[in-house]
Amino acid sequence: MQPQQSEWKDQWTLLEDQEQFLFLDWIHPFTLEDFRGLEVLEAGCGGGQHTRFLAPHARSVTAVDLNTAELARQRCQGLDNVQWVEADIAAMDLGRRFDVVLSIGVVHHTDDPEATAANLRRHLKPGGLLVLWVYAQEGNGWMRWLVEPLRRVFLAPLPRRVVLVISRLVTALLYAPVHTLYRLPLRFLPYYDYFGNFRRLSFQRNLLNVFDKLNAPQTQFLSRQRAEGLTEGLTDRRISPYMGVSWRVSGRAPLEAASPV
Ligand SMILES: C[S@@+](CC[C@H](N)C(=O)[O-])C[C@H]1O[C@@H](n2cnc3c(N)ncnc32)[C@H](O)[C@@H]1O
Repeated sequence: MQPQQSEWKDQWTLLEDQEQFLFLDWIHPFTLEDFRGLEVLEAGCGGGQHTRFLAPHARSVTAVDLNTAELARQRCQGLDNVQWVEADIAAMDLGRRFDVVLSIGVVHHTDDPEATAANLRRHLKPGGLLVLWVYAQEGNGWMRWLVEPLRRVFLAPLPRRVVLVISRLVTALLYAPVHTLYRLPLRFLPYYDYFGNFRRLSFQRNLLNVFDKLNAPQTQFLSRQRAEGLTEGLTDRRISPYMGVSWRVSGRAPLEAASPV
């Protein structure tokens, strides 16, 4: 079982996310309409930012995270069809299965992404849909070889409020290149597509993105092959890149002989 990882609770206490277009991009080619009337398991709900989008469409949402249930419940008052659960999505056994299991930006932060995905697949009803969004190994050289090592050595021991101040500074510094150099047709630049989104988002949302990278207690960047493996045993398997730095992965549980939870 993973330790409680208080960094995440701190992240969702300090910052909020209200941006829907990113969520819709991450679940593409599916839309919120695809979840209408269905029982959805949201694995790694953080402060409930996506639960708010899902609940009006789904029949029910079971929103799971390590330690943010109370925070998310407070942020999402009035959503009567949501059940908040504190559990480790890699090890939990909720004792029931779902039409949709959705996990956005979480599996790559667990100890063993393959084991976590296997546990999520075990929570699918026959014919149920698994939708994941994970960080890619491809396109993330700077994150893997520079940012992550620096984070581990220098940022991990610091109080989260100090990391927030550093993140604010980094976010502000990124504005100059992103609005000049990155507007030129220089597609060979690292994170070229990714910074296109940076121009669309508010400072506060960009800050959350930067803080998220500097705060995450552990991250694995998954090669295409590993990302594809997350839907092992499923049918209708799909994978597509997003902004050159992440994978959208999905698949359906076979109609017959889905393994019991
Ligand atoms: C980057 S945030 C993503 C939150 C939300 N899905 C989103 O995209 O805004 C990662 C979340 O995964 C949760 N998390 C990480 N490992 C987990 C685990 N083993 N079980 C449950 N939640 C976990 C963290 O607590 C954190 O809230």
